[in-house]
Amino acid sequence: MTQELVKSALSKVMYPGFTKDIVAFGFVKEINIHDNDVSFTIDITSSAPEVAQQIKDEAMQELKNIGAEKVIINMKTPAMPRESSSKGKNIAPQVKNFLMISSGKGGVGKSTTSVNIAIALAMSGKKVGLLDADIYGPNIPRMLGLEGVKPEVNGNKVLPLKAYGIEVMSMGSLMEEGQSLIWRGAMIMKAIEQFLRDILWSELDVLVIDMPPGTGDAQLTLAQSVPVTVGLTVTTPQMVALDDSRRSLDMFKKLNIPIAGIVENMSGFIAPDTGVEYDIFGKGTSEPMAKEFKTEVIAQIPIEPAIKIGGDEGKPIVYNAPTSESAKRYMQAAQTVWGVIERVNEGGGVDNEAIQPTTPPGVSACSTKK
Ligand SMILES: Nc1ncnc2c1ncn2[C@@H]1O[C@H](COP(=O)(O)OP(=O)(O)OP(=O)(O)O)[C@@H](O)[C@H]1O
Ligand SMILES: [Mg+2]
Repeated sequence: MTQELVKSALSKVMYPGFTKDIVAFGFVKEINIHDNDVSFTIDITSSAPEVAQQIKDEAMQELKNIGAEKVIINMKTPAMPRESSSKGKNIAPQVKNFLMISSGKGGVGKSTTSVNIAIALAMSGKKVGLLDADIYGPNIPRMLGLEGVKPEVNGNKVLPLKAYGIEVMSMGSLMEEGQSLIWRGAMIMKAIEQFLRDILWSELDVLVIDMPPGTGDAQLTLAQSVPVTVGLTVTTPQMVALDDSRRSLDMFKKLNIPIAGIVENMSGFIAPDTGVEYDIFGKGTSEPMAKEFKTEVIAQIPIEPAIKIGGDEGKPIVYNAPTSESAKRYMQAAQTVWGVIERVNEGGGVDNEAIQPTTPPGVSACSTKK
């Protein structure tokens, strides 16, 4: 058995649908021959699995025809398509993409990030919705100047509110002011499902979802109800916050959600009078964690009084001071996230997909080893 003989046999295998064979295409590599035993690689990493199988079967047959005894074909086939968090289920089918914004602990700036990224995406021409899934402490209405505004009810559906070019819904808009509810597991599930199913969202490019802090029933229900396209974690630079953030990133992995990145919030302080940047809680401390999860810190947002005031007064900084340093960083982060969403949709996925698709998502699976 010779290389030439093997190559000429394999050149009888046409690439399905083409008049060119797999040798001519350059797909056959690393041919090794020992007497009548042959091993080689067929590298067709960009085709459908059925195509790969057909090529493999035909190659095997051609080699048998020339008297090969033991044949080992190492097929380099396309990666299996990623399984979505909900295994294809989508109870809000008019929404194309879902961006889940999480954090390990409360008060790190999830809602601020959600609001500014949502508006930044809308300012770049996307149709955007913002769902305040923090049913325990809904504060999106205040941040968008929608406090006390009641949504219109249409039959048993509810129309989202509108502000700054985005559609918005929050438990805060459905409850009476000052009212607070004690949520139990089953109620949380129902509330999240209703937000997705019974709110009349338009055809959206992306629904940004501001989650309650931590990793619990709300996160799990969301991930199982819709195919979450990407997840974003918000953290502050202190080590204690990072410990919790790791849990949030781990949850994304367990729920089969590609990680779009980390927003390091309250990262330094820009003095409003001088514009000088001071390090307060530490800066860049989330970099090693990003590496660990094969993702990136997509923005470092400084502590800036204008961000807090914007939140309190319902005037988000990206809209009200678009030329400020923080606004620019939010815009940049939004662009990066959109890039990752597109990559995930194209099937390219993201590198952090060290995801274990065999692990069924479950609350118990969300805890990290410490
Ligand atoms: N970069 C920043 N500079 C100044 N203030 C900020 C910044 N980020 C957030 N804040 C302020 O910190 C407070 C907490 O932020 P936010 O409500 O966004 O956090 P959260 O993670 O959503 O909190 P919770 O867990 O309670 O929902 C708010 O008053 C907000 O305006
Ligand atoms: Mg919040």
